[in-house]
Amino acid sequence: KADPGERRALVGERTGNAAAFGAEPELLELADVMVESSIGYLALPVGIAAGFLVDGAVIDVPLATEEPSVVAAAGYGAALIRRGGGFATTAGNPVTTGQIFVIPPESSPDAAEWAAAAAERLAAATELLTAEAAPHLERMSARGGGWRGVNVSTLRDTAAVRLEFDIDTRDAMGANLVNTVAEQLRPTVERLTGGEVLMAILTNAAPARVCTAQCVIPAPLLARAGRSGNEIARRIALASAVAHEDEGRAVTHNKGIMNGVSALAAATGNDTRAVEAGAHWYAARSGRYRPLSAFSLEGDSLVGRIELPLALGTVGGAAGIHPATRAALRLLGDPDSALLGRIAAAVGLAQNFSALYALTSEGIQRGHMGLHANRVAYAAGARGAELAAVAQRLRDRGEYSTDAAREELARMRASAGAPGADGGEPDRNGEVR
Ligand code: MEV
Repeated sequence: KADPGERRALVGERTGNAAAFGAEPELLELADVMVESSIGYLALPVGIAAGFLVDGAVIDVPLATEEPSVVAAAGYGAALIRRGGGFATTAGNPVTTGQIFVIPPESSPDAAEWAAAAAERLAAATELLTAEAAPHLERMSARGGGWRGVNVSTLRDTAAVRLEFDIDTRDAMGANLVNTVAEQLRPTVERLTGGEVLMAILTNAAPARVCTAQCVIPAPLLARAGRSGNEIARRIALASAVAHEDEGRAVTHNKGIMNGVSALAAATGNDTRAVEAGAHWYAARSGRYRPLSAFSLEGDSLVGRIELPLALGTVGGAAGIHPATRAALRLLGDPDSALLGRIAAAVGLAQNFSALYALTSEGIQRGHMGLHANRVAYAAGARGAELAAVAQRLRDRGEYSTDAAREELARMRASAGAPGADGGEPDRNGEVR
C-alpha cells in the first residue's frame, strides 16, 4: 500500500541496494503503470542475431534472454541457413479464439440432456451473438478484423457446453479484446441456455496462428570435427527422429526452439507464457508430446521444417508502451503480426538447427562454456578489461569454476601490481553454475 518511492526505499533497506531494480525515472514510472506493487524493473540483456534471410529480406533480430549462447547460436544458424537460400516462411491468420464454458443449472435432472439442448440453442443463436459482440468490435472491424464465427460443442465428462468464438485481431495479440467480448456475452449465453457461465476467457492454443519456416542447407557446408557434411546432416536428421520417438528428448529439443522464440517474444513485449503454452499444446496435439521441428537429409541437402502457433502482437500490450520493445520492433522493420510470427518461426528453426549441429558434432559444452566464461569471470569480481582476459584464461585452462576465475584474477592483478591482488570482490552470489 506504500507509494512506489516508499516501496523502493523499503527494498533498499532490506537488500542494501536501493537501485537493484533500476533507477531510470521514466522506466520506474512505466513499471508502476505496468504491474502492481512495483519496485522497479529488471533489465534483461538484449543481443542481435544478425542476418536472417526471411523470404528474401535480410532481418536483424533482437533477442532478450538471460542465457549465454542463445544469440550466438541463432546468428550462427542464420548465417549457415542464409548460404542455403534462407528461410521460406508462412503465417496463419491473426485470429484469437474466446471460450465460454456453461454448466447446467443445479436444478437440471439430466446434465447431459441439458447440455445437448443448450448447445443446440446456442448454435441457433449465432446471429444474436454476433450482434451482441459487434459494438465491441467496431474499431477492429474498421481495421479489417473483427468477428469470424462461432463453434459450439459439449464436453463429455463435465457436461459443460463450450461456446467458442473467433475474432480477427489484426496486429494485436488480442487477449484483452477477446476476454472483454467473452464477458460481455455472458448474460446472453446464460439466458439462452438456462445454465450458468463458469468462465469466459480466450484459449492460448491459438490454432489459427500456426506459422511455418523451412530451410535447405547444402550438406557439404556442415563438415566439422573430422566428419563430412553428409555424415553430420545424417546425424542431425537422426537426432530429429530420436526427438520424434522419445518424449524426454522432444521436450529439450523444443526448449531449444523456444530459446529463440521466447527471446524474440520478450524483446518485442509479447506474452512469452502465452506463446510457450500454445507451442506445447501444439507439440502434444497428437496425444503424444512431439518435436515442433523436423530435419531430414534430402539428396545432398539438410532440410529443416518447423511449425508452431505464434500468438504475437505488434500493437497493444507492452509492445505498445515500452520504449525498448518499440525500438526492438523498429529494428525488425516494424513488422505486422504475421511477419513477426514468420520471423519467430525462422528464429526457432535456426536456434534448433544450431543446437542439433553442435550436439551431433562436437557437443554443446565447448561453445557454451566458452561463452559462459564471461559470466564466471564477472562473478569472481573481474571488471572492465579484466573480464575478457580472465574469461580467456578460463577458456585456455578449460576450467570454468568461480575458484579458477578468482585464482586467475588474483594472478593477473598481482602481476600488474594492482590493489586487490587477493582476487577482488566476488559477487555476493558469486557461485556460478
Ligand atoms: C539449451 O538451452 C538448449 C539445448 O538443450 C537444446 C537441445 O538440446 O536441442 C541445447
